Parts: sequence; structure tokens; C-alpha cells
Amino acid sequence: MRSSTRSAPPTLKSERSTNPVPATQGEALGWAAGRLGSVGIRESRPESLALWGTITKSDPLAALRAARKPMSDDTWERFRDAVERRAEGEPLAYAMGTAGFRTLDLRVDRRVLIPRPETEGLVQRVLDWAEAEGRHGIVADIGTGSGCIALSLAVEGSFSRVIATDTSAKAMAVAADNAAAVKSDTLVDFRVGEFFEPVRETTLDAIVTNPPYVTGGEFEDLDDGVRLYEPRDALVSPENGMWHIRRILEDAMDHLNPGGLLVLEVDARRADPAIDIAGRNGWSAKIEKDVFDRPRYLLCNPAHGGNV
Ligand SMILES: C[S@@+](CC[C@H](N)C(=O)[O-])C[C@H]1O[C@@H](n2cnc3c(N)ncnc32)[C@H](O)[C@@H]1O
Repeated sequence: MRSSTRSAPPTLKSERSTNPVPATQGEALGWAAGRLGSVGIRESRPESLALWGTITKSDPLAALRAARKPMSDDTWERFRDAVERRAEGEPLAYAMGTAGFRTLDLRVDRRVLIPRPETEGLVQRVLDWAEAEGRHGIVADIGTGSGCIALSLAVEGSFSRVIATDTSAKAMAVAADNAAAVKSDTLVDFRVGEFFEPVRETTLDAIVTNPPYVTGGEFEDLDDGVRLYEPRDALVSPENGMWHIRRILEDAMDHLNPGGLLVLEVDARRADPAIDIAGRNGWSAKIEKDVFDRPRYLLCNPAHGGNV
């Protein structure tokens, strides 16, 4: 795709200085690419098209075919707002309001972490294990955020039920909205609460979790797009980033059926300490690598109740 060098303001349909509306959709897209390019966003044209696609709920490429179509005031205002938010540094997924995860298009905003590609592999570990072992009981996703893991398991797996928990009621509201938009025969049960408190009376075949695992210092060094926009509580864990992982490894076994599976996403820099904590808490555990070849998934079975 040829990149645009245009950054001049678009031709105005209206001269209202507070709301200059470009005459055509093509001019609006040209302005957006110029605006994003002017703040150093390299993929300024694809990002403009992506923003256009979500604002207008249309195939972004259709925008190129309809470049001469007149621009409506309402669409322009929403598009310009999204472009400005992106230009000011907001992550593209928040400016768009959506993020892709496996088969799903999920609604995301600043209440939830933007789902990461490596977490797709976490879901795959659970699906592969369930199929190999013929386990179709209840699975819990601890710290569901946008609901990406829980909803993928509901859509792609064959579990009797999925329970999604989070301490953040705000995140849970986003996850529940996402659930309403996803077609699945599997019930997804959303419960607010800490760690295993929401599932204290349920026995599970599998537990999956992508808990906070970044240290406070590491958080300060993250890109502005993450540090200034994504929820700190979704990322940072005390005890050198290991508090959530330790708590989960200490308590999860009480909630698992014999031979059940616990899978955690861990920080690649702290995979070894995570394995150590698992061993000390009676798990037979191993680490698998993500698509970027980083040790990332901690797979655990009760040491005296099955194999990983
Ligand atoms: C790293 S984010 C993961 C979100 C989502 N599962 C994903 O993979 O994108 C961690 C999530 O755990 C939640 N959380 C933090 N502490 C928790 C706790 N003690 N119990 C349950 N959830 C917690 C946060 O609110 C956040 O939504």
C-alpha cells in the first residue's frame, strides 16, 4: 500500500472552524493518514483504514472504493475523534474500540487489558489438553479482563460451562458485553471476586489464568501506550511480579478435579521461579514456549493426580 505524504487540512464542506468536515471520504482518509504520520506512526494509512472500518462498521477496503462519496458530519466527528485519540498516543485497539483475539472481535476500552497474541496460545493449551484427555467439565478463567480467554473457550471448546472471574467490576462489565455479542452454546458465568473466592463451591476440570505479572519497576519502563492507558492493576503484581502466580499455585489444587489442569501465562523472565513455586506446592509442572519462542505457559497437574 502506497503511503500518503499529505498532511494539509482537507477541503472543507463546511467552514465551521470547530467542525471542519472534509468534502469526501477520501479526503477524510487522506487527512487521517497525514495526522497519524505527523506524529510518527509508520503504519498511518493502514491504521486510518482500520479506524475508518470500525467507526463505519464497514470493510476498510470499501472506503478506498468509495473515496469520492460525500462525508457525513456525524461520521466525520466520530472518525476525527478516534484519529485524534490515536495521534495523542492511545493504543490503536482502544481508539478503534475493538481487538481481535483468535476467532473473536472483542470490544475493548481502558477498563480492560488489550488481549495479546501470546495469550491465544494459552487458550490453545487448554483446548488441546481437553480434547486429548476427553475432559468436558467446567473450566474457570481467573482474571478474565475483556473475556478473551473465557469466550474463546466457550466458542471453540466443548466444556459444560465456563466461569470467568475478575476483581474488577468494570472489566467484568466489558466482558459481559462481549459475551452478549458472541454466539456460543456454552454458558459463560461471570463472577466478580478475588482469586478462587468466586468458584469456592465449584469443582473444575481446568483453570486457566493470565494474571498480572509485571513488577512496579518494569511497569514504569513500559511504552507510554501501555503505561498511560492500560489498567495498572491488570499488569502489576507485588513480590517482584510473582504474588498473583504464587497465590494461584498455592490455592488452585483445592478447586480441581483429579487429573485436572492448571495453565498460567507467566513472564518469560521469571519462568524458572514460577516452576519452583509450582513444585513446592505439589504440582507436576512444565513450561512451554509461545509463538515468539519465549518460555511463557506454565502447565500444571497435581503431582499425585495425573500427568501434564
Ligand atoms: C493480565 S490481565 C488479563 C486479562 C485477560 N484475561 C487477558 O488475557 O487479556 C489480568 C486480569 O486479572 C484481574 N485481576 C487482578 N488481580 C486479580 C485477583 N486477585 N483475582 C482475580 N482477578 C484479578 C485484573 O483485573 C485483570 O483483568
